Amino acid sequence: MIPQSFIQDLIERLDIIDVIGGYLSLKKRGANYLAKCPFHNEKTPSFTVFPEKNNYHCFGCGAHGNVIGFLMEYQGITFPEAVSELADSVGLLVPNNRVDSQHLTSNRKDIDTVLSIATKYYEQQLKESETAINFLKNRGLTGSIAKLFNLGFSPNNTNGLRSVFDDYDKNEYLLQAGLVIRKDSNQIYDRFRGRIMFPIHNTYGKVVGFGGRSIDDVNPKYLNSPETSAFNKGQELYGLFQSKEGIRKSDKIIVVEGYMDVVAMSQFGIRCAVATLGTATSEFQVKKLLSRADNIIFAFDGDKAGRKAAWRAMQASLPMIDDGKLISFMFFPDGEDPDSFIRQHGATAFWKHVEAAEPLSEFLLREANYAVSLESTEGKAKYLKEVKDLLSKIKAPNLFLLMQKKVAQLVGVSVDELALGQRKRVKRTLVTNSDSTRPRVISKILSIMCSHPNLAKACNLSQLVDFEGCQRELASKDEWDLIYYLVKISLEDKEEDLLEKFRGTNTEGLVVKAQSGAYAMDTLSNKEMEVELRGAWGKLIDQLKSVRVSQLLEKKELSGTEKQELMNLQRRHQ
Ligand code: GTP
Ligand code: MN
Repeated sequence: MIPQSFIQDLIERLDIIDVIGGYLSLKKRGANYLAKCPFHNEKTPSFTVFPEKNNYHCFGCGAHGNVIGFLMEYQGITFPEAVSELADSVGLLVPNNRVDSQHLTSNRKDIDTVLSIATKYYEQQLKESETAINFLKNRGLTGSIAKLFNLGFSPNNTNGLRSVFDDYDKNEYLLQAGLVIRKDSNQIYDRFRGRIMFPIHNTYGKVVGFGGRSIDDVNPKYLNSPETSAFNKGQELYGLFQSKEGIRKSDKIIVVEGYMDVVAMSQFGIRCAVATLGTATSEFQVKKLLSRADNIIFAFDGDKAGRKAAWRAMQASLPMIDDGKLISFMFFPDGEDPDSFIRQHGATAFWKHVEAAEPLSEFLLREANYAVSLESTEGKAKYLKEVKDLLSKIKAPNLFLLMQKKVAQLVGVSVDELALGQRKRVKRTLVTNSDSTRPRVISKILSIMCSHPNLAKACNLSQLVDFEGCQRELASKDEWDLIYYLVKISLEDKEEDLLEKFRGTNTEGLVVKAQSGAYAMDTLSNKEMEVELRGAWGKLIDQLKSVRVSQLLEKKELSGTEKQELMNLQRRHQ
C-alpha cells in the first residue's frame, strides 16, 4: 500500500495546472482554468481546474477529482499506476514499505524547514548589512521589491547559519538542502558567503533552493543550490511564484536569463517575467509555461551565449507548442540585458521591444539560414536537412503544415515532396499490434460490468467517439451494444436483472459467458474490481488507437484532416 503521507506530499509538489495542462488545452478564466471536458462530449468548455483548491470539476458531467484522479480517469490506469507516473514526473520514488515512506516524507519536511529558516535568516542579514542594501539600491531596487522576492544576504562568514541552527555541525538536512558543505576534514562551512540571496520558490511558494550573487565580484558571480530532493533545476522557474498573477492578467510570460532581470522588471512594473536557473530551457519548463499563458516571449541577451540559449529554448519548444499558442524570441542590443535595458529606457520602451519579438516559425527559419547560402543546391540541401529535422519535432498540426509550406517555398520543392519523408518517419515509430497477440480485453470488461453493473459508469463512453470506424475490429456489434447499455444503466443508477432483460436474444449468451468469467476474479473487493475495470478500459482505448493508426497508414492518400488525425493519435500514443 502506498502511504497516505506520500500521496499528500506528491499532490502538494505537483502543480495541477501543469499536469492537466499537459493533456488539455487550458484557458484562463479569472483565477481558474477552463477546457473542453475530456470525459464527456461538449462544444463549450465546462471542465474547470481550480488551482487554489488543487482539484478539477466538470459542470457538465460532474467529473471531479485531484491530479491522481485525473490521470486515472484520463488514461484509464489504476491508482498505483497514476501515482507512479506522477511521482516519476517530479523525480520521486514511490516508497514500497512503511519505513521507507516515513523516512522519505519526514526527510522532505525537514529539508523544507531548514530552507525556510535559512530564508528568514538571509532576509534578516540583508536588513543588517549596509553594503548589501547599497548594492541593491545601486541596482535601482526598493525595499518592497526586495521583500516581494524575499531577497536576502549571506554575510561573509564561514559558519553564518550556525546562529540559527544549534545543531549546525551535525544537521544532515542542512547538508541535504545544499546550504552547507562538508570538507574532507569533516568540517562544515556555509555554501553561500558574501552573496545577495535569491530564494527560488516552487509554484506553491515554498523555497526549494537559492541563487546567490556575489557582491564583490568574487568568482563565480552566481552560485546556485545543488540539485536536491526538493530542487530540480530543469523543472523550476525563478519568479514564477511571484509572477503568477501578472501572468494571469496579461496572458504573457517573458522568459529572461537572469534572476536580477526578473527582479528589475518587477521593479518597473513588468510582473510576468521568469528566469531559467542558469541552465538551458527544458521541455518540461516550456510545458509549464504554456500551461499558464498563451504568449511566451524568450527575451535573451544579444551576445553569443544568449543566441545559443534562444536556439536551445526553441528546440525545447518544438514538441510542446500547440496551435493557438505563440512563442517568440527577442534579443537585447549587445552588452545590454533586460535589467540594464529597462533601467535605461523604461517600461514603455521595453514593451515596444517585446511587441517586436520574432515568432518561433520565423526565428527558426532565419537562424537555420544563418550559416548556409540558399543560392546553391548544396546550400539548400544542407538547409533542408537541418530544418526538416527540426520540423519533425513539431506536434501542432497546423503549425507543422504551414511551416512545411514555407520551407518548401524557400528551397523550391513541393510540400508533398517534404511530407513524404514525414510519413516514413511516422511508420517507423509506430508500435504495431498484430491481431493474434491482441488479448481480448473486452471479455474482461464485460465480465466485470456484468457481475458488478454499478461499476460500469467508471468507463467513459465519450472516449469511444473517435473510433466508431474501428470498434468492430476488436469486438462484435452485440458486445459493443452491451457495453454501451451497461454504462448507460449504471449512470442512471438502475438495477436490472441482465439475464431477464436479454432472455431469448443474442446478447443472453454474452451475459452468461461474461458472468461466469467473473468467477475468476471472485476474490477481489469492489474497489479492486473497479481498478481492474479502469485498467482494462484504458487498454481497450489504446487498442482502438492502434487500430485507427493502422487503418490510416494503410491508406494510399490521406486527406488533410486524416493527416491531422494521424498526428494527434501518434502524439497521444507516446
Ligand atoms: P548581474 O550581473 O547582476 O546583472 O546578473 P545577471 O543576472 O545579469 O547575470 P548574467 O547575465 O551574467 O547571468 C545570467 C544568469 O546565468 C544568472 O542569473 C545565473 O542564473 C547564471 N549565471 C551567471 N553567472 C554564473 C556563474 O558564474 N555560475 C553559475 N552557476 N550560474 C551563473
Ligand atoms: Mn545583468
